[in-house]
Amino acid sequence: MRAFKAISVLMLLALILSACGGAAPAATSAPAAPAASSAPAAPAATSAPAAAAGGDLKIAILAPLSGSQPTFGTSTRDGALLAIEDWSKAHDGGVIGMNIKASVEDSQCSPDPAVNAANKVIDQDKIHYIIGEVCSSASIPVSEIANAKHVVQISPTSTNPSVTVNKDGSTKDYIFRACFIDPFQGTVGANFALNTLKAKSAFILYDQSNDYVKGLAEYFEKAFTAGGGTIVGKETYNGKTDTDFSAILAKVAAAKPDMIYLPDYYNTVNLVTKQAKDKGINVPFMGGDGWDSPDLDLNAAAGGYYTNHYSPDDPRPEVQNFVKNYKAKYNGTTPDALAALAYDATGLLLTAITNAGVDDPTKVKDALAAITFNGISGKITYDKQHNPIKSATILAVTKDGVKFNSVVAP
Ligand code: PHE
Repeated sequence: MRAFKAISVLMLLALILSACGGAAPAATSAPAAPAASSAPAAPAATSAPAAAAGGDLKIAILAPLSGSQPTFGTSTRDGALLAIEDWSKAHDGGVIGMNIKASVEDSQCSPDPAVNAANKVIDQDKIHYIIGEVCSSASIPVSEIANAKHVVQISPTSTNPSVTVNKDGSTKDYIFRACFIDPFQGTVGANFALNTLKAKSAFILYDQSNDYVKGLAEYFEKAFTAGGGTIVGKETYNGKTDTDFSAILAKVAAAKPDMIYLPDYYNTVNLVTKQAKDKGINVPFMGGDGWDSPDLDLNAAAGGYYTNHYSPDDPRPEVQNFVKNYKAKYNGTTPDALAALAYDATGLLLTAITNAGVDDPTKVKDALAAITFNGISGKITYDKQHNPIKSATILAVTKDGVKFNSVVAP
């Protein structure tokens, strides 16, 4: 098997070399991360050479490895690479007779680097499938490019509705996601605030330049007021530049809300919750999936809650098996929701390619639209707008860690 792979890579290289007159822009070299096929997969040396026979099936993983939310990138990359490794072990080392080859690009959770990465993997590397980005503000511009160029994109985690839907309301044919969307997430948060925290009033703090944060703030407000709650204040900031939140926190203190909704990423959540505690603001904060990080400041955010996609404490055997394998591969690290969803997004893609039977994004997109997939984060089938209908998990932040609270079905 290994021999077959080595031979096929050599043959491919020879073909490229001859086609390019020796210049070889190295389509097979320089993956930013370990190619999945280098994983210790492929047990049987003699059986099933089929996987090596059909060349490489290339997948790009757009992950924010640097920038303000680096844990999002690490988890996404690691979840996707584990999925490829597990898949390869279970499927003769590949998919539809091809070796699976991943290349990881650092897309920084930000529009420009994400767009550059998308253009590179599509135009230069001739990749037909993208897993990513994580952040909605990056996934939305990438989706415009991928859809126009007929490249299948599955965002594991981008929850803003605009990722899969055009401005005119039509669905982007080639764009899918593995997660629920923010109208649901915001409603789950608002109902929890009303019914469990018994909040009658809320203050909303949000970054108006971030599609995800802004959208989630709006959906929360809508559901909270529809449920009889009152929004006693709303303040905005710029998450890229602001570090001192004392002016808006003074307004929060004066308004005396029962709770504060802060639907931002963990790095900003750390700053805001710390400064709030220092000011003596002790009402609970609540947020969304963006809080999910091993770098969430537990002391600062303790007493808070957030909606998320999964809990590693979920006793379902598929979840526990995934947690065990992930820990074994990555030095005992517990997989967060980003890792679980990247694992699911990659499994979705490989299943759809198998169902399509061919490395052709026009066929694979149809297979995705029709898929039924049992993932770590739940069962996935797509609605007309390429959104899975899935449950949300509510987690409680304590000084000793993040604890499972409850599951809310759609
Ligand atoms: N939902 C976030 C977004 O759309 C990304 C995210 C998902 C971050 C899950 C953390 C965990 O931007």
